[in-house]
Amino acid sequence: MEKKHTLSVMLMVVLLSISIHCIRTESRTLMEADTRRNLLANGLGMTPPMGWNSWNHFFCQINETIIKEAADALVSTGLSEVGYKYVNIDDCWAEYDRDAEGYLVPNKVTFPSGIKALADYVHSKGLKLGIYSDAGYRTCSTQMPGSLGYEQKDAQTFASWGIDYLKYDNCNNGDLKPMERYPEMTRALMSTGRPIFVSLCEWGDMHPALWGDRLGNSWRTTNDIQDTWESMISRADQNEAYAVYARPGGWNDPDMLEVGNGGMTTDEYIVHFSIWAISKAPLLVGCDVRKMANDTLTILSNKEVIAINQDPLGVQAKKVRMEGDVEIWAGPLSGYRTVVVLLNRSLNNTYPITAEWDDLGIPPKTAVEAREPWKHVTLEKIFVNKLRAKVRGHSCRMFVLTPVSQSG
Ligand code: GLA
Repeated sequence: MEKKHTLSVMLMVVLLSISIHCIRTESRTLMEADTRRNLLANGLGMTPPMGWNSWNHFFCQINETIIKEAADALVSTGLSEVGYKYVNIDDCWAEYDRDAEGYLVPNKVTFPSGIKALADYVHSKGLKLGIYSDAGYRTCSTQMPGSLGYEQKDAQTFASWGIDYLKYDNCNNGDLKPMERYPEMTRALMSTGRPIFVSLCEWGDMHPALWGDRLGNSWRTTNDIQDTWESMISRADQNEAYAVYARPGGWNDPDMLEVGNGGMTTDEYIVHFSIWAISKAPLLVGCDVRKMANDTLTILSNKEVIAINQDPLGVQAKKVRMEGDVEIWAGPLSGYRTVVVLLNRSLNNTYPITAEWDDLGIPPKTAVEAREPWKHVTLEKIFVNKLRAKVRGHSCRMFVLTPVSQSG
């Protein structure tokens, strides 16, 4: 009898420890999935990258003079001083074929001095040089080789030239999965020891927001932007869906800026820049910075809006309310502040838009001061529970809300 009892107690103990073990294993798996921080540890991209890229304006018509003059213009216009440091060469910088040893060769006609000389020039101006390659057999233009199968050689080449940023595209990939192609280049770059910002340009095909953080500092979430309202706003929408994945060290990238390329109105470009800023998107200017209209420079160099993009909290804003053509986007900033964008997507109608604290995540009854970064003014009124403002068609109003003492 006693023996039977001892046996059943032992059995219970065994069963109990098995189930505790199962629960532990399960919760550990859950915990690990939730808490792992697989960021690419190159120390870059603690705030979204800022700079210029040749593609949106020049496409394949680039040469070393244009790149040098773009670097000069970033300095002379003051853009570099407000944060635009990367000078990024996009597609079409290399010869059609590799050399006999398998190395990429800068195009002999358009880049006769070579990329190292360009890097030295750009560095001498306090700027950084970015370059472009492709996780496929040829780049998207097909005018130069891609890096697939040549990752070590190309990474070594880029590092030896003094490259600071690599945009790594997705064309002509032989239908291999991104996971079979992108890690090779990241590992190759890591083994050079040079910190190189990795910009994954996978167009959002296989949801890189879900896996990009261990391979890159940013990942494209969309196909290529064009210089139209529809294209711009649809990229903003697609990128917004991945907001929770953005963080210091790894950012969602809805593609480069079209501000200044002439296809949108000033109001539309302000919407473009506002949404990119609050979305913590890379701010890569895509116009001809050598010949910018005043409006363009004013938009691109608004320090208050840039500071929102570069806020150390690094939280991407989200849509918090949508009603027809009216949207409210908001997100937290450091110092208990909140940034709100009231967006009117209709073409011609002006609407009053009301942002309620409940939607913004601000505790009820909180009194705030509202600053309009685009106007450089702080409104006199103190707002409690909601803020209401009129917004024109295809335009937005941006506010930064800072709590103030209720008695004040
Ligand atoms: C792809 C990219 C673009 C640009 C071009 C260059 O389309 O998404 O940003 O780099 O290739 O060919």
